[in-house]
Amino acid sequence: MSLNKKSVDDFNAKGRRVLVRCDFNVPLKDGKITDETRIVAALPTINKLIKDGGKVILCSHLGKVKEGPNEKESLAPVAVALSEKLGKEVKFIADYNVTGAETTAAVNTMKEGDVILLQNTRFRGKEETKPGDAGEAFAKELADLADDFVCDAFGSAHRAHASVSVVTKYIKEKGGTNAVGYLMQKEIDFLGNAVENPVRPFVAILGGAKVADKLNVINNLLEKCDTLIIGGGMAFTFLKAKGYEIGKSLVDDEKIEYCKEMMAKAEKLGKQLLLPVDTGVADSFPDPIDGPVDVSYVESSKIPADKEGLDIGPKTQELFANAVKSAKTVVWNGPMGVFENPTLAKGTIAVAKALAETDATTIIGGGDSAAACNQLGFADKMSHISTGGGASLEFLEGKELPGVYAADNR
Ligand code: 3PG
Ligand code: MG
Repeated sequence: MSLNKKSVDDFNAKGRRVLVRCDFNVPLKDGKITDETRIVAALPTINKLIKDGGKVILCSHLGKVKEGPNEKESLAPVAVALSEKLGKEVKFIADYNVTGAETTAAVNTMKEGDVILLQNTRFRGKEETKPGDAGEAFAKELADLADDFVCDAFGSAHRAHASVSVVTKYIKEKGGTNAVGYLMQKEIDFLGNAVENPVRPFVAILGGAKVADKLNVINNLLEKCDTLIIGGGMAFTFLKAKGYEIGKSLVDDEKIEYCKEMMAKAEKLGKQLLLPVDTGVADSFPDPIDGPVDVSYVESSKIPADKEGLDIGPKTQELFANAVKSAKTVVWNGPMGVFENPTLAKGTIAVAKALAETDATTIIGGGDSAAACNQLGFADKMSHISTGGGASLEFLEGKELPGVYAADNR
């Protein structure tokens, strides 16, 4: 089943009020945006709608808003950054109520090509809606502002929230279009369709600290891929499940049975499952994380009792790189070791390098692996780096994301 959603290319926004849900959940420090990636990623869709002559009404959440509306989680700095990048005024509606008289008045005076940004949708509390509660009312108020809706908030697509998915119901009721933006489209093409119908051989690489975070990802990818590679902290639970001595390495004893099941499943399905064969070990986890550390390399089946595994070793790097070389599609999520430390980043760098050098389609599933690619300078060598964290993981689990699912089919 491949996803074939209506996009901003499937309708003309001329003269229409278009509500666009973005993911402007950017990191802020002392009121300054420290990483503009998500703002930059939203520009193509916004520019397309401006060019069409649409009236562009942007909305987003920012932060968790645990203490209720507050200036620290206001979207005001985003309006300033956006305005600079678009080279035109972005009118910010600061009202903590998000919708209401001020917003409606601003929308009513919009001309074709104008852009406004609404206040943080989580300031309404009812953003996190359940069917039948007042979140529905908020979703309807948002829909009342517009004729059509575009979801370009991939990072939030796993949330069944008022401004992400519920709003589509009310847009649909009045005959409007619910489409996805270019950013969402690209995420769907790569994380959705390329993983669902991969060009083979398909190699999936998973890392990161905890097995528990990736149970469903492992299970789903095992069914889709030809080779599953497991590195990072979570590999030690697999190694222990094989009966190996893993010393003081990170382990989740409750997931040993699960790891055994996955290894049996791989065998039954005739899939290759690769685990580290050598491991970089030290006396303890570096403190500070990027501080000096004395590393030696041992066989992964014989980690000394007083040592902790913190990276994959050179033989494993080669093993994993060779698997990548023969692949036509590669998905990677999670670092191979403590990549924040230069001495322990070697495994993660080796994998990033292997992906950078192949002609295969390379898909980086957000979060830490995206950060690693950016930090290590390999970002522009990848076919796709997801802008989502939780959303990309749920996509790789094979789940239907509410924000994707709610858009009209073509
Ligand atoms: C994110 O950064 O994870 C997304 O913007 C979603 O935010 P949330 O995890 O607070 O729902
Ligand atoms: Mg999150």
